[in-house]
Order: sequence, then C-alpha cells, then structure tokens
Amino acid sequence: MDVVVVYESKTGTTRRAALAMGDELFTRGIRCTTYPASGVDPAAVAAADLLIVGTWTDGLFAVGQRPGGRKRLAQMLNTLAGPDGDGLKGKKCAVYCTYAVTPGGTLRKLDDMVAGAGGDVVAGLAMRRDTIADGAQRLVGAIADLSSV
Ligand SMILES: Cc1cc2nc3c(=O)[nH]c(=O)nc-3n(C[C@H](O)[C@H](O)[C@H](O)COP(=O)(O)O)c2cc1C
Repeated sequence: MDVVVVYESKTGTTRRAALAMGDELFTRGIRCTTYPASGVDPAAVAAADLLIVGTWTDGLFAVGQRPGGRKRLAQMLNTLAGPDGDGLKGKKCAVYCTYAVTPGGTLRKLDDMVAGAGGDVVAGLAMRRDTIADGAQRLVGAIADLSSV
C-alpha cells in the first residue's frame, strides 16, 4: 500500500502530524510520502492507494472555524483533479485537521472540499495540537483497519 499525505501548515503543527503519520505508517510497513500543499506531486498521488489531506483550524477560536489555507488547498485539489477534473475520481482519501480549542466544522468542510474534487473520503480525524502523536496513531490505525478489508 502506498500513501501520500498532503498538508497545509502555518506554524508547523499540521506538518508535524503529517510526519508522525508517515512514521506510524512506516512502522506498519506502509509506504508514505508527505508533501506541503504548495508542492504536491500529482503523479505520486495518482499512484497512491490513499491520499491524506490535512490542514489547521482557522477561525475565532470558538466560532467560525474553517480549514486554514483554503485557497492553497483548493488550488492543490484542482491540480490533482487535473484538466478533465477526474484525477481524484474514486481515490480513497482521509482528512484531518489540527486545532487548539475546538475545530467546529473544519473537518466536515475539508471533507466537503476533498469530496467536491472527486475524492472518496473514508476516514477523518480532528487532532488537538497538544496530542498530535496520539491523533496520528489513531488516524493511521483507522486507515490500516480499512486497508485490511
Ligand atoms: C489565525 C489563526 C486562527 C485560528 N483559529 C482557531 C480556531 O478558531 N479554533 C481553534 O481551535 N484553533 C484555532 N487556531 C489554532 C490552530 O488551528 C492550531 O494551532 C493548529 O494546530 C495550527 O496548525 P499549524 O501549526 O499547522 O499551522 C488558529 C490559529 C491561527 C494562526
């Protein structure tokens, strides 16, 4: 199984989660490559069995939460969808967001973005920024369970 993680990160936490998931996947014998949203390799995503997309929570801490870096995420998803718009069609995807206090609707909105680009979202997790290692393990565990199906 090949996994690609693409993350949008402002201060490093969501990147840290991506790298922790990479380590956890490696431990389980699953190949993983991580990319920032600004530098994703469409060929690697096309070849992957699963795409994980992560971002941070942007909002007013308790209200108005949404995916951080939406413009870059939208551009990235557009690039992956390709000129015919079907590059992500049927691609198994997982989503995650990191947050400080409460993620509100961030994960659902990210899920909507990825599904809107054609991805088939099969797992998702909001990870509090002070429990990233635990969150990374939990999401990888859910993915590994799915891949054994
Ligand atoms: C401008 C800004 C707005 C934020 N809004 C929220 C918020 O509404 N709710 C929340 O729980 N965390 C919020 N956070 C915290 C970040 O989502 C959290 O620290 C996240 O893990 C940062 O990820 P990053 O280091 O990958 O950028 C905000 C952070 C910033 C910089």
